[in-house]
Amino acid sequence: MLEGKSIAVLGVGKLGEALISGLLKDKALKPEQIQGTVARDGSIERVSQRLKIKVGRDNKACVAGKDIIILAVKPQNMDKVLREISEVLQPEQMLVSVAASVTTAFVEQRLTADNPVVRAMPNTPSVINVGMTGLCGGKHAKQDHLSTCEAIFKCVGQTVFVEEHLMDAVTALSASGPAYLYVVIESLAEAGVKLGIPRETSTLLAAQTMLGASTMVLDSKSHPAMLKDTVTTPAGCTIDGLMELEEGKLRVTLIKAVVKAAERARELVHSQNQNYK
Ligand SMILES: NC(=O)c1ccc[n+]([C@@H]2O[C@H](COP(=O)([O-])OP(=O)(O)OC[C@H]3O[C@@H](n4cnc5c(N)ncnc54)[C@H](OP(=O)(O)O)[C@@H]3O)[C@@H](O)[C@H]2O)c1
Repeated sequence: MLEGKSIAVLGVGKLGEALISGLLKDKALKPEQIQGTVARDGSIERVSQRLKIKVGRDNKACVAGKDIIILAVKPQNMDKVLREISEVLQPEQMLVSVAASVTTAFVEQRLTADNPVVRAMPNTPSVINVGMTGLCGGKHAKQDHLSTCEAIFKCVGQTVFVEEHLMDAVTALSASGPAYLYVVIESLAEAGVKLGIPRETSTLLAAQTMLGASTMVLDSKSHPAMLKDTVTTPAGCTIDGLMELEEGKLRVTLIKAVVKAAERARELVHSQNQNYK
């Protein structure tokens, strides 16, 4: 689906870079099919050295002639960037926003034509092609636009379509999620250190265990509670560890963390939406 397509990535920061790296690693696109922009001159060298793509600061020039425009600036910069490029956009060019909290309606309202708009919420493991992306289409996005967008994000991991009202929840769960899980890995590694395991070995034990547990859930399609039960021998040691987790309220803490992050995601561009004329 991506053969011969050209892509502009406006805002090659952490997420933009993760996405482009994943696409290049998957060989879905060649570097000459991708062009990017950044805000500061100093960032141009970083991006061109790391990704070997054409990069500049001129958003209007970057979008010219591109089939797909990925908007990867911070939510608070989205209004400015959209106003800038709307002057030069052609109606058939597809826009893909990865910005937290920015709705497809927010993007559509700032365009002069009925361009197809898709909202995507990927995460940074996209850089190693094990990303997770939630997708939803805007008013003018047809099935072929959704399929093209799905093809982009499938190159860098798994994808799922959700209704737009759930995108803030996806943001809080899978886009912010790696940060929560790094804390879990770090904490488990600290536990190993406390018990005398060298830090490097301890981090490997923790991270590979998380990878194994995730892979078991994905491959077996079993309920996580059932998989947990298979580890928990009666009167064994795991049940003692689980009791500590319950006492420390790990479950409710994780639930509350995701709910809080979703509330914040809803707020991010709320004021810009309110003030829009
Ligand atoms: N990080 C994540 O895990 C993640 C996950 C899902 C979605 N997202 C979304 O992805 C977007 C980017 O997040 P991020 O973490 O990648 O932020 P970031 O690292 O700060 O990247 C933002 C990029 O936008 C560039 N930029 C700022 N203003 C610009 C303008 N007017 N024109 C062109 N480029 C401009 C910045 O340039 P300089 O480098 O020169 O400053 C920077 O490269 C956000 O909307 C976020 O909600 C992020």
